[in-house]
Amino acid sequence: MSYENILYAVEGPIARVTINRPDKMNALNDATLGELKDAFTKAGEDDAVRALLITGAGEKAFVAGADINELLAEAGSAEGAIRVSTTGQDVFRLLEQLGKPSVAMVNGFALGGGCELALACTLRTASSKARFGLPEASLGIVPGYGGSQRLSRIAGPGVAREWVLTGDMFGADEAHRVGVVNRVFAPEELEEGTQKLLKSIVTKGPVALRFCMDLVLSGWDLDQTQGEALEAEYFGKAALTEDMREGMSAFLEKRRPEFKGR
Ligand code: COA
Repeated sequence: MSYENILYAVEGPIARVTINRPDKMNALNDATLGELKDAFTKAGEDDAVRALLITGAGEKAFVAGADINELLAEAGSAEGAIRVSTTGQDVFRLLEQLGKPSVAMVNGFALGGGCELALACTLRTASSKARFGLPEASLGIVPGYGGSQRLSRIAGPGVAREWVLTGDMFGADEAHRVGVVNRVFAPEELEEGTQKLLKSIVTKGPVALRFCMDLVLSGWDLDQTQGEALEAEYFGKAALTEDMREGMSAFLEKRRPEFKGR
């Protein structure tokens, strides 16, 4: 598939996905969502890719939401609106459950669907100039791409209610304070800081990363006992991997491990 609305580049172990409609604040139209689905699938299937970096083109926006022009046209009926919502949900769930860590590098406005895309990533970094928010209620709608659910799970229901009900924009420091953003950088240091974070992740065992991510994700829907049962199961599975032998041998031999992801 050739892309018109996103850029896709594999840089070493990182697949970089850039939403590329800067004159429209990188708003997500249907075509862009289709391309994101294709790019996430490609990154998931490529053994050379160990993590994803998702960002927006230009200086101003990460993604300023779903494309409001298209929303008005497509969401004219309940069926149409539900289709819009489930299409976006499916793409973001694909990313969340890819089994490879993703970092949203939020370089500007992350509003509505853009905030929801960032929330579907495993981690979030932000420029100190970034602005976050879920303004859907200001448009008479509700978050439709999983944001109402993920924000509540990431930052708690108090934060989710405040963001969703007020529709306010929140700065990067506030988003960091409430746990939505993992690391904030000066704009000129965002790329380097994000790359450093990614490097600290991609040097770990890929199978262990996949298990760890699933433990946290699945744990959202499990009680402590069930969660611990899953943890023990993964502990057992990890013990059968070449990566475990390599990781422990490397430690004892005082060298860097070379994980193969099996
Ligand atoms: N959907 C479609 N187009 C959008 C958009 C969106 N979500 N967000 C921005 N754009 C378009 C604008 O219509 C404008 O297009 P134009 O040049 O053809 O008129 C262009 O992007 C630039 O946006 P503009 O509003 O002029 O920039 P700004 O710097 O004054 O404001 C924002 C930036 C992000 C604050 C503002 O664009 C905004 O509030 N966007 C909508 C956010 C939103 O409600 N998202 C949730 C959607 S469900």
